[in-house]
Amino acid sequence: MKVSVLGYGTVGVGVCEMIEAAEGLELGKVLVRPGKADKPFKVCSIEEICADESVDAVVEVMGGVEPAYSYLSAALRAGKHAVTSNKALVAARGPELAKLAAEKGVGFLFSAACGGAVPFLHNLALAAESDRILALGGILNGTTNFMLDSMQRSGMDYGDALRQAQALGYAEADPTADVSGLDALRKIMLACAVAYDKLPCEGFSLEGIESVTAADVKHFQAKGLVLRLLVRGGESGDGRIYAFVQPYLLAASSPEASVLQNFNMAKYRGENAGDILLIGQGAGRYPTASAVVRDLSDIAHGRRTMMKASCERVAADNSVCSCRYYVRLPAACADALPLAEKELDGALLRGVTEPLAVTDMHARVKALRESGAAVFFAAMED
Ligand code: HSE
Repeated sequence: MKVSVLGYGTVGVGVCEMIEAAEGLELGKVLVRPGKADKPFKVCSIEEICADESVDAVVEVMGGVEPAYSYLSAALRAGKHAVTSNKALVAARGPELAKLAAEKGVGFLFSAACGGAVPFLHNLALAAESDRILALGGILNGTTNFMLDSMQRSGMDYGDALRQAQALGYAEADPTADVSGLDALRKIMLACAVAYDKLPCEGFSLEGIESVTAADVKHFQAKGLVLRLLVRGGESGDGRIYAFVQPYLLAASSPEASVLQNFNMAKYRGENAGDILLIGQGAGRYPTASAVVRDLSDIAHGRRTMMKASCERVAADNSVCSCRYYVRLPAACADALPLAEKELDGALLRGVTEPLAVTDMHARVKALRESGAAVFFAAMED
């Protein structure tokens, strides 16, 4: 199978090397930015790739929604299989690409967009064919896991931990997507689409790690707790989809607390299979490239669908889930939350709320922040 690659950045270089080394795969032309085609194998024109009848598949690793969407659509229209690692693209335009691939009878896979090397979507797509998926979750962002682990185990500060994650090639071009939780949110959107044929596209609850301080981390450590940024997704009994991202405080013995560095842990619960946990490197050149090349193998073996053409966009409803929350806020704001436990820490109050719906907690904290209060919160794992 001859494969052209769109993009020659961190992941693109890894994909090209892996294709060249793989049995049964041949590297076609590689699309680079205008003016950057400094070698014969590089081109700057998507039309040239689409018109090349010897190319069977196109891998998109450029990132961003445009021009990636136009380029991948053009490749699908030209009858090429499509593989992408681009979660922003699939979260925004996945249903259109899935429909186009089905119309043209070609493959469209995006394992590498969720979990790096971890074969999460690959296994989830298989499992959803024969089992009812009850819940989805885990750690789906390598950058923030690396940062939290470095802050907690090496006492690194937030800025240094982020700079190191960037230097190691884990972070997005704009790392705000990582630390705000948006990157992890896009991944749970994709997992919901694969598991439930419904792509949540609004109504999210999103909290990243931007509010955590070194003093918070010390405080959790003293209590034997570990902070992780987790995703949750699923379908309630009445068919409502939930999808949210928020920090969690976990017992040191919980499986997620043992996930270190840039590793991810993807979880799903099948009605019959029970809990399945998959752990591996969630970011970086070769881990991500390995998932892209695995998708190419799947296509070569005839497994070509991850998102169905019938996938519909829905609003998430996170009022169906509730948690108790650890919170740190100015002591003067104590009445803004129903606190079951509280302790004063100078002018700050640290406490744990009564159980609150996810939507309710996120709305209350939003209002507090709008009034100028600096607040950190994390769900407590029950
Ligand atoms: N920035 C992403 C992460 C890359 O840190 O998980 C892999 O999707």
